[in-house]
Amino acid sequence: MADLRVNIGSMELKNPVMVASGTFGYGEEYSPYIDLNSLGAVVTKGISFHPIDGNPPPRIWETPSGLLNSIGLQNVGVKKFIKEKLPYLKGFDTRVIVNIFGTTISEYVKVAVRLSETPGIDAIEVNISCPNVKKGGMVFGTDSKSTKKVVSALKKVCSLPLLVKLSPNVTDITEFAMIAEGEGADAVSLINTILGMAIDIETRKPRLANITGGLSGPAIRPVALRMVWQVAKTVKIPVIGMGGISSAEDAIEFILAGATAIATGTANFYNPKTAYEIVNGLDGYLNEKGINDIKGLIGGMNA
Ligand code: FUM
Repeated sequence: MADLRVNIGSMELKNPVMVASGTFGYGEEYSPYIDLNSLGAVVTKGISFHPIDGNPPPRIWETPSGLLNSIGLQNVGVKKFIKEKLPYLKGFDTRVIVNIFGTTISEYVKVAVRLSETPGIDAIEVNISCPNVKKGGMVFGTDSKSTKKVVSALKKVCSLPLLVKLSPNVTDITEFAMIAEGEGADAVSLINTILGMAIDIETRKPRLANITGGLSGPAIRPVALRMVWQVAKTVKIPVIGMGGISSAEDAIEFILAGATAIATGTANFYNPKTAYEIVNGLDGYLNEKGINDIKGLIGGMNA
């Protein structure tokens, strides 16, 4: 087998394949379908200080090659996550990355502090890019001053590697990647969903109760790939690429564009084994090409 190990800050992953936040619950939901030990990392649904019920339904709408969602960051809250969800995940040989968010900087900080004090967590992913809430999420990730403030505040209190999940709903994503890097982020993950909407022409009602939602899936893959490439040549910290990845071929494209690791998202819903298949597919590709270390592939696009 080829060497699939990659490093994100001080964290080593046994392979570069993660599952994206919000598409894999808290891990346990998927364990009947995929061996969690086969994954480089599990990234949990976004965790806030208090539990959140999310947006009213309908919250999901399927589009050509894509999925619109407006879940509204439903989650159990940090206390219940630590008590009831984390112990299960800790039983596997995979990295545990907890996605976090808040409606204010002090809420982000409170969640990060609690998680930093908790054994069994390998890294924090900061969600400054959810498009489905009025406070927090994308509000922080589309304003450069707010991005700077939240990353800087978290860096001061967080002893774990800090990954910042960026929004594609900006004019120039490299500006936000540079801010995250400048404030001490250990990596950036991109992209979160692209803001979209759909209307039922019979009822003339929006398909989502929240009217707008985030578009994910293969429909956004070329956009995600372009942004990963732009960011990877701008910052020195690792880039975690995501956006419509559903096969080893897709994952290899992102790695060639400069991603150190990748995450599968929407594909997990219709093929829960996607991440496992990608790990095997990456190994097969490297063996076929006579490359013994995946690090030799990162940023290897011939332009
Ligand atoms: O609405 C949601 O829970 C989506 C979150 C995200 O895109 O980060």
